[in-house]
Amino acid sequence: MSEHLNGTTPGSKPIVKLVDVVKTYVMGHNTGGGGLLRRRSQAAASVTVHALRGVSVDFFPGEYIAIMGASGSGKSTMLNLLGCLDRPTSGEYFLGGRDIAQLDDDELSEIRSRYLGFIFQSYNLIQQYTVLENIQLPLTYQGNGEITPEAEERAVEVATLVGLGDRLDHRPSQLSGGQQQRVAIARSLINDPYVILADEATGNLDTRTSHEIMEMLGNLNDSGKTIIMVTHEDDIAEHAKRIIRMRDGLIIDDGPSARMKTAQAALMGTAHLGSEPVWKTDGSLPDADGVGPFNQELTH
Ligand SMILES: Nc1ncnc2c1ncn2[C@@H]1O[C@H](COP(=O)(O)OP(=O)(O)OP(=O)(O)O)[C@@H](O)[C@H]1O
Ligand SMILES: [Mg+2]
Repeated sequence: MSEHLNGTTPGSKPIVKLVDVVKTYVMGHNTGGGGLLRRRSQAAASVTVHALRGVSVDFFPGEYIAIMGASGSGKSTMLNLLGCLDRPTSGEYFLGGRDIAQLDDDELSEIRSRYLGFIFQSYNLIQQYTVLENIQLPLTYQGNGEITPEAEERAVEVATLVGLGDRLDHRPSQLSGGQQQRVAIARSLINDPYVILADEATGNLDTRTSHEIMEMLGNLNDSGKTIIMVTHEDDIAEHAKRIIRMRDGLIIDDGPSARMKTAQAALMGTAHLGSEPVWKTDGSLPDADGVGPFNQELTH
C-alpha cells in the first residue's frame, strides 16, 4: 500500500522492514512415553510447523498497526520476531535500518532494552516486586544495571502517566487487572522506546478497562510512538490506523482501518463518496466516468 495511506510522510524510511520472512518450527523426536503414546511419537517423529511462510511488510515511524487473524495464523510469531525475541528461519529484518540477522544475542538484547517496549496479555510482572521495581526492570538489563536517581525519577513519572502514582509500593497481587496492565505499559515506556509491541494487551480485561488501555496507547501514538499490536477483537483493532490480516502464516490483507479511512475521506472532503479520492492528483476535475458510483446513485 502507498505510504500516505498509512498516515506517514511520503518518503520517510521504514522503522521496521521484513523481507520474505519465514519462521519454521521443527519439533524434535519424542522418545519418551510407552504404549500408544510411543507408537504415535514414532509415526510422527518430527513435526514441522510453518508459522510464517514469507512475510514482507514495512512499518513507518508513528504508525499504529493492528495485526489480526485466526488463532495459529502467526501473529505472535511475527510480533516476537519484530521484538527480537526470536530469529527468522530465513528472510531479512531491518529495525531502524539495522540488519537484525547480523547481531549476536547480546546485541539483540541491547536493541530490545533500548528501542522496544513490550506489553503482553498476561502482564508478565514479577510478583515479588513493587510497581516501581517492575517499571524499572528493563533498566536493570542496561549498562551496569544500576538504577540512578534520574532513572528512579523517570519511573515515578511514567507510573504517574498511567495513573499509578499512588500505587508505587503495591505488588501486582494488590492491583486490579487493568492496573497491572498499566504497570506493564509504564514498564514498556521506561526506556522511551521507538516501537511498542503489544500482544493481546486487552485479552484479560473487561470492555471498559480495555478501552481505557486503548486510549492510553492512542495517546502514546499521538505523542509519536510507533505501536504494533496483536488483537482478536475488531473494536480494539479499530483504535489502530492500519490493520493487517494474517492467515496461515501469510499477510492476506493490509490497509487503513475504518476510522482512518473516514479521517482520510474527511480530510479530502469526500466523506460521502467513500475512501477513494475522485479527483486527479494534479488537482484537475475527474473524467465523467471517474465518478461512477456517485453518478449511478444520482441517476437511480
Ligand atoms: N515455539 C513453538 N514451537 C513450535 N510451534 C510453535 C511455536 N510457537 C508457535 N508455534 C506454532 O506456530 C503457529 C503460529 O503460532 P502463533 O503463536 O504465532 O499464532 P497466533 O496467531 O499468535 O495465535 P493465537 O491467536 O492463538 O495467539 C501455530 O501453529 C503454533 O502452534
Ligand atoms: Mg498469539
